[in-house]
Amino acid sequence: MTFDAALHHVTSGRPEREALSYLISARGDDAARLRRAACEVRERAVGPFVHLRGLIEFSNICERDCLYCGIRRDREVGRFSLADDVVVSLAREALARRYGAVVLQSGELRGGTFAGRVEKLTRMVKSLDPAPGITLSCGEQSPETFRRWREAGADRYLLRIETTNPELFRRIHCPKSIFEKRLQSLRDLRDAGYQVGTGVMIGLPGQTCDDLANDVLFFLENDVDMIGMGPFVPCSGTPMDSWDGVPDAAARLDFALNMISVTRLVMPDLNIAAATALDAISPDGRMQGIMAGANVLMPNLGPDGERRKYLLYDNKPVVRQDDDLMVSELNHMGLSPEWDSPGTPLHYLKRTSR
Ligand code: 5AD
Repeated sequence: MTFDAALHHVTSGRPEREALSYLISARGDDAARLRRAACEVRERAVGPFVHLRGLIEFSNICERDCLYCGIRRDREVGRFSLADDVVVSLAREALARRYGAVVLQSGELRGGTFAGRVEKLTRMVKSLDPAPGITLSCGEQSPETFRRWREAGADRYLLRIETTNPELFRRIHCPKSIFEKRLQSLRDLRDAGYQVGTGVMIGLPGQTCDDLANDVLFFLENDVDMIGMGPFVPCSGTPMDSWDGVPDAAARLDFALNMISVTRLVMPDLNIAAATALDAISPDGRMQGIMAGANVLMPNLGPDGERRKYLLYDNKPVVRQDDDLMVSELNHMGLSPEWDSPGTPLHYLKRTSR
C-alpha cells in the first residue's frame, strides 16, 4: 500500500483496518502530509475554531487501581477533594476567562455520597450566569447515577475505553475494571442523553498499530461525539513504570498525533481534544495536537497545590495556562478560540436531529 492510496481509502467511504493502520504508523514526511490533510478536513467540517473547557480536577481520591495511573488507589500520594465553593469559584474563573465550558474530573468513587456530591456540584456550576457547558469525567457509574447527573445539568461525559483490545485492557487494569462493563457504561451514557466522549492511550506496552486502527473503527462504529486521547506516559511508583515494550517518546508522540489526524479524517465533525499528556512528552505537544487536527483545548484551572497532587503521569505540566500566549499560538495557525460558547459538538447536534 502507498501513502496516497491509504489516504484516499480512509477519506472515501468505509475505511478499512489495513489503511488506517498504515496511516497511524506514518513517520517523517508522510506524517506531516497526514496532519495537513486532517487540518483541511477540520477547516471544512468545523471551521477555524478551537473550543475551550476549563479543567477542574476536583478530587484525586480513587477506588480503582489501574496499573498505569498516578492516582491509583495503591500509590502513595497526598489525597485531596476541593471544597464546593472552591469548585464553583474555579468555574466562575473559567467563565471570566470566557471559556464557556468546564470539565469536572475526579478519581472514581461509587456510592450515594459521591453521587450526591457530584450532583450538587453540577447544579451549583450550572446555575452560574451564563450557564457553562459541563462535562463530567468521574468514571464508571450506574445508569441511575448517570441519569441523575444529566438531570442536574451535565451535558457531556468523558469515559475512555483506554484500549479496545480486550486482552490489553485486562493486562493494564485491576480485576475490578471489566472491559464489557466499560462498554456498557458508554451505552448507558448515550441512553441518558449525554454527548459522549471516549478515547484511548497510545503507545501502551504491546499495543500495535492494528490495535490503534481498531480503536478508530470503534469510535466510528459507536458514533461517539468527542474524543480525548494521548500518549501513554509511564508514571513512577506505578507497576507499568517498569514494563518493557513502550515505544520511545518520539514514536509515541508521532503515533498520538497520527491517531488525532486519522480520527479527524474518518469523523470530520467530531470534537477532538489535544490531551494534556501530549505536553508531558513535548513542550508544545498540545499545540502539535491542534496542528494534527484536534479542535478542543482543556486548560487546567485547579489551584496550584492540588494540581501537583493530580499527577496521572510523570512530567504532567503544573503551570497555569497563559491565555494570551494560547491565543497567539492559535492565531499563528490560522485558528481562534470560540469564546463564551458551551461548545456543543456539531456531531451531537447532527446525530440528535437525525
Ligand atoms: N499516561 C497517559 N495517560 C494516562 N491516564 C492515566 N494515567 C496515564 C498515564 N500514565 C489517562 C487515562 C485516563 C485519563 C484521565 O488519564 O486515559 O482515562
